[in-house]
Amino acid sequence: MSESYRVVALPGEGIGPEVVEASVKVLQHLAKLEGFSLVVEYGSIGELAFNEEGKFFPLRTAQLCEGADGILFGAVATGGILELRRHFDFFINLRPVRPLAALLDKSSLQPHKIQGVDILFVRELVSGIYFGRSGRSEDEDGSYGYHTMKYYDWQIRRVARVALGKARSRRGLLTVVHKENALPQIPWCSLVREEAENFPDVIVESMLVDNSAMQLVRDPKQFDVILAGNLFGDILSDIGGALVGSLGLLPSASLNESGFGLYEAIHGTAPDIAGKGIANPLGTIGAVVMMLQQWGKTHAASSLVEAVERVLARGYRTVDLAPQGEEIVANAETLTELIVQELSELGD
Ligand code: NAI
Ligand code: MG
Repeated sequence: MSESYRVVALPGEGIGPEVVEASVKVLQHLAKLEGFSLVVEYGSIGELAFNEEGKFFPLRTAQLCEGADGILFGAVATGGILELRRHFDFFINLRPVRPLAALLDKSSLQPHKIQGVDILFVRELVSGIYFGRSGRSEDEDGSYGYHTMKYYDWQIRRVARVALGKARSRRGLLTVVHKENALPQIPWCSLVREEAENFPDVIVESMLVDNSAMQLVRDPKQFDVILAGNLFGDILSDIGGALVGSLGLLPSASLNESGFGLYEAIHGTAPDIAGKGIANPLGTIGAVVMMLQQWGKTHAASSLVEAVERVLARGYRTVDLAPQGEEIVANAETLTELIVQELSELGD
């Protein structure tokens, strides 16, 4: 009997539906080529869900995702994503940053600084300041707002174990990003070092978040795995967009303890380009690669990587990559079609 997979697509809004459509097309084509059966069901989240059901992340969407093999997510500007992450306890957010060979000249850095960069951000995703107590109030000094950063030690320890495991399977270096000089009550460094006692082959270093931002731009090759809390991981990983050439290139996987996951690009709804068909779908397609890897479908994953590389090697570029000279401007639909064709040729 052939393997079968059920994927829930949650396109959301802005460029979300455009990049999800491209990814679903590619995934469906791969399923045919690789001989696994695939069912894709669509659910609503964000603005659409709110207009229809009065909730950004309705129960119906949660139930649809329950028991699926993966969630393919677009983007939302309104709400719903935090609730979705929390609902499934997707505490592990993996964000690989690796430049593509054909795009070295698209980086904000010189090619020699970017060639060989291979960073994996491990971002804690269901706690920290995004989930702490918040509100607005008033006292004798005036109106004020507040957000609370709170981490249980066990929340830091569990994501640290994941990051340490990743470092062990890579180059053995883990950088813990923190701000303990100003926020000493949340002791990321000592908790991670305690967990690291079970990973003697991993070198753990700590780096203040402000310095980390500078080092990522100055010398990104020094990093292997970067572990960060929710807020710092969110902010720092966007620097990866400038490193590889566009925010539209970067994928992510959000996983829970059992390996169930949500796959999305790291970008948002990009309202400035939404509806024009020009969004770069490669971040979300990269997220499909991560989903295939998570399923153990390594052949399908590497075929997809190769198909993308071949299309780029032929010179096709979406506008965010500032095509120049011999390069050919492609919209999302054309780029997707070219990837599908390359996949077929690889399969021949
Ligand atoms: P953004 O990531 O949507 O866009 C930043 C810049 O990158 C824009 O100039 C945009 O045009 C460009 N860009 C992003 N993705 C691109 C792609 N695939 N192809 C070409 N260019 C691309 O961040 P921004 O503008 O700060 O936020 C817009 C909205 O998205 C906000 O409401 C934010 O809350 C939301 N957001 C949602 C996320 C999610 O649903 N997971 C993640 C990040 C932001
Ligand atoms: Mg972000």
